[in-house]
Parts: sequence; structure tokens; C-alpha cells
Amino acid sequence: MPQPREHLGVSLRAVPRGGGRAGVSVPLEPPPGSLSGAGPAPARPGRPLLRAGEAPAPAAMELLWAAGGLLLALSLLAFVLYCCYVRYIHAKYDHIPGAPRESFLFGHLPIIWRMVRNQEFTPDLFLQWAEKYGPVVRVNAFHRISVLVVSPEGVKEFLMSPQHPKDPTVYGTLFSLFGERFLGNGLVTVCNHEHWRKQRRIMDPAFSRSYLIGLMETFNEKAEELMEKLQEKADGKTEFSMLSMMSRVTMDIIGKVAFGLELNALSDDQTPLPNAVTKVMEGLNKARVPFIRFMPGKWKLVKEVRESVRLLRRVAKECIDRRREAIQNGKEATMDILTQILKGAALEETRDEENILDNFITFFVAGHETSANQMTFTVMALGQHPEILERAQAEVDEVLGAKRDVDYEDLGKLTYLSQVLKESLRLYPPVSGTLRRLEKEDVISGIKIPANTTVFLNTYVMGRMEKFFKDPLTFDPERFSKDAPKPYYCYFPFSLGPRSCIGQVFAQMEVKVVMAKLLQRFEFQLVPGQSFKLREAGTLRPLDGVICKLKPRNSARGCQA
Ligand code: HEM
Repeated sequence: MPQPREHLGVSLRAVPRGGGRAGVSVPLEPPPGSLSGAGPAPARPGRPLLRAGEAPAPAAMELLWAAGGLLLALSLLAFVLYCCYVRYIHAKYDHIPGAPRESFLFGHLPIIWRMVRNQEFTPDLFLQWAEKYGPVVRVNAFHRISVLVVSPEGVKEFLMSPQHPKDPTVYGTLFSLFGERFLGNGLVTVCNHEHWRKQRRIMDPAFSRSYLIGLMETFNEKAEELMEKLQEKADGKTEFSMLSMMSRVTMDIIGKVAFGLELNALSDDQTPLPNAVTKVMEGLNKARVPFIRFMPGKWKLVKEVRESVRLLRRVAKECIDRRREAIQNGKEATMDILTQILKGAALEETRDEENILDNFITFFVAGHETSANQMTFTVMALGQHPEILERAQAEVDEVLGAKRDVDYEDLGKLTYLSQVLKESLRLYPPVSGTLRRLEKEDVISGIKIPANTTVFLNTYVMGRMEKFFKDPLTFDPERFSKDAPKPYYCYFPFSLGPRSCIGQVFAQMEVKVVMAKLLQRFEFQLVPGQSFKLREAGTLRPLDGVICKLKPRNSARGCQA
């Protein structure tokens, strides 16, 4: 949900007119001979009002009090006018159903702030509101109103049509993080349609089918490195965070295939880049706490987050410079994401170096966190449903046998695994939703939404509503079987329409390769006592990281090299 801008209050004291102490009238000029016995200083041009150590002259005091009084009066007037404006906005939107406001000015924010402070999961609040007040739900924050739309008709209207841009007031908050430029105008956050279209057209070839097939080798190679690391832990006793392992492998993959970098996050957990990304994601989450930058207890965190953003941009710059140098020296550029970013920049009339860095960071962050979360949630769901795990393993055994590498053709044969992955995205979508700006008044599900409203579309919420999915909290991959009816605009983990995820196919290939190898090689067990709750940290992730124990699978012992 959009966060309001911070308002800095100015505290002013009421003061009597004409002097420093109430009831004492101070003459404008002291009588001759008073104090030093000297008369009033003759007015000299250019004489400062006060000299160091000199008490303010009564006239100056009078002026200061008058200015203070005026400021106070103006502030009060501004506040009253602002309250009238808020009242007017309420009147404009109050026909839209919504939970009672907790406060006239803050609206629903105190509820959300409380949840963030208590580390509660705010999407569940939106789910409750959607069930109770939907399909169009009002959310107030100062004079800004957002609406949560949970009707398939609304999702279709807002996501499929290019006429509803991403909302700059919300995506603008990702432009920088605690004052450091972060995602800037990169492909995820850019709201201007023309600017987005140009960038997207240039990036599309890097995600074409033929290019993606060429990535199978890297997916296999990096997934194999993960298996080796897991093998070291597979004694049935060692407990480890699956999220941490998955994050490292996806980071190594995106580093290699997108930017030609060997990050070695899997073999070295002290490499600075993974830690910087974790810090930045934590910063994204914490940035929602109002005034956090001004809380002394949080200065250390804010400083670390800013340093991490700077580190990411510095690494991006070094990598880009190296690639440019290689191209200048006649080396043939690989057709990867970085080459496409540089090509796009070369087509611009004025080279925007900062925008190149924006896209580097965008692909780096968007391209690994999400897939890692999806895989970790899938391990969690499989660990909780042994019968589904068994069926998925049986399919992998049938398709791969003891073969080491997963071929592109195998991916299409792993149909049950696809269903499991889709169901995992329904209950645990790493990106819970997206936001659009409604620029002209519209009627959705019979409810009039005024122009210039932020519209929030949420796949987490819709994916958990009985109205759209029977028995929604049950993990059931059969919902996505070939014969089951397709969900109609109520399931969009990669968003839909023109601004949908460019990396969708990339991610699902990568995830299938890693998951297929994991299922082929290991039996896994979830360590009891963890909460399996979700947390928002830029993306939706498992709160406790999904702590697992592994054992090698008997049937996979003869895995071919
Ligand atoms: C499970 C994995 C993934 C999920 C669930 C996911 C989800 C999404 C969603 C929901 C959006 C729309 C965001 C919005 O409207 O604000 C999006 C956009 C995007 N994603 Fe992904 N994503 C995944 C993997 C990837 C990967 C692997 C890459 C890159 C290699 C990537 C790159 C992008 C980019 C660049 C956009 C912006 C597209 C545009 O606006 O043109 N994503 N993703």
C-alpha cells in the first residue's frame, strides 16, 4: 500500500504581542540616559540588527514575536484548510466500502503501522477486508485513498490495458532507498509508458525462447553446484535454511547468465554482494515504518542499507565498464541481459548512465529473490504434504531416471512438478501484487472509482479467497491439472498484460531444473518447531527460512556423471 509523505510538525508557542513578558509593555526606544546613559543609537546604514553578545533591541524583539505569531496563525490556517480537504476527499470516496477509519487524518494507517511494528503479515489484513468489504475496498491514508480491487473484471481491466500506468506515487518510493538511488527508472519501476516501451522492446530478445534454451547449461551447472553443497549437509542431522541455499544458487545463476559474473555465493557466504542484497531487501521492508530515518535506534540499519545500495551500484558500474572495455577491444559480446541493457543505452540520444545502473540493479534483484522464494516455499509445501512429494518424486524418477542433467525437452514432461510450482505460487506468491493509477473516473463491479486513484491488485489475496478457489488454504496441485478450469483473472503471480514479468519463462525453467535435481537426489524433512509464517521483506518470503534436514535418496545413488 502506498505510504504517505512525512509531515514535519513545527511547534510554535503562543506569545503576547509587543514584548518578551506578558503584561510588560516595552517602549520602542529607551529614554535618554537609561542603562548606559547613552541615547538611542543613531540609525546607521548597514548596521547589523544584533551584534554578538548584544541583547536584541526591543524593536527587533517586537518583529520576531510578530513573525512568530504570523507563522502560527498561518500554520493553523493551513492545518484547518488541510482538514477541510481531507473531509472533502472522505466525502468523495466514502461510498466505497471499507473498514472503519481509526483516525480522521491517518485513516487506516495506524492499523497497518501496528502490524508492521509487531512483525505481523499485512496481506492477511487485506484478505480479511477483501472478504468482508470486497470486491472494491477503500483504504485511507491522510488525503490519499487507494482501492483494493478483487474482482476478475477489475483485474482484467487494470492489467490488460496499457491505459492504466503503474502508479508513480508508489513506484516512486523505490526510486531511491533512504536517499540513495536504488531502482531508479529501471524496467520494474518506470511509470512513463513510452520510456517503459522502449526499454522493454530492447530487453525482450534476451528472453526469447532460443536464448533461454541456451541457458539450460548454466542452470544445470549451477544447480549441480547446489547439489554438491547439499550433499555435504545430507547426513540426516544437519539443519540449515533452505532459503539461504536457494538465494545463493539463484544469485549465482543471475550473476552468470545476466552479467557474466562468477559470484560464487554458493561456496562463499561472506561475499559482499549477497549480504548487500539481503540488507537492501530488509531496508525495503523497514522503509515502510514512518520516520524510521529519524529514529536513533535505527541509524545503524539505515547506514548499512545505504552502504549496501552504494555497493550494488558500484559493482554494477565496474561490471559495465569491464564489458564496454571488452567490446571496444573487439571481443564479441555475449547475448545476455547486460548486452541488451548496453544496446538500449546506445540507442538513446543522451546516454543516461544512471538508468543503465538502474536496470542492472533491477534485473539483479528481480531476477533472484523471487525464484529463490518460490523454490523455498515449494520445499515447505512438499515437506508438509508427503503424498504430493512422493508423486512429484515419482515423476522426476520417470522423466530423468539417473541422468545428471535436465534437458530442455525434459521440462515439458515434468507436468506434475509444473502443477506443484503453480500451486505454490497461488498460496505463496513472492510478489503479492501490483499497483495502477486510475486517471479517469471508472465503474468497477458497479462501484464508481474517482479519477486519480491508486488501484491495488493482489494475487495473494485473490488466491486465498473461497470465491475463486474452493477450500483455498489446502495445497492441491490438481487445481492446475490439464482438465481443471483455468483461473479467470484471479491468479497472476507474474502479473498480466503488458507489464507482466519479463523473466517468467526464465524463472520457471530455472526453478524446474533446481527442483527436479533436488527431488531426484534427496529426501527432505522440515525441522519441527518453526512457524512456517510468511513475512514481507520487499518480496514475500518464509519467516523462518524453512529449516530442513536432508538424506540422500536411495534411488538416486547411481546418478550418472
Ligand atoms: C518466481 C519468479 C518471479 C516472480 C514470481 C516474478 C513476478 C513478477 C511480477 C509480479 C512482476 C510485476 C511487478 C509489478 O507489477 O510491479 C514482475 C516484473 C518483472 N520481473 Fe519478475 N518475477 C520472477 C522472476 C523474474 C526473473 C528471473 C527476472 C529476470 C531475470 C524478472 C524480471 C522482471 C522484470 C524486469 C519485471 C518488470 C517487467 C516490466 O514492467 O516490463 N522476474 N515480476
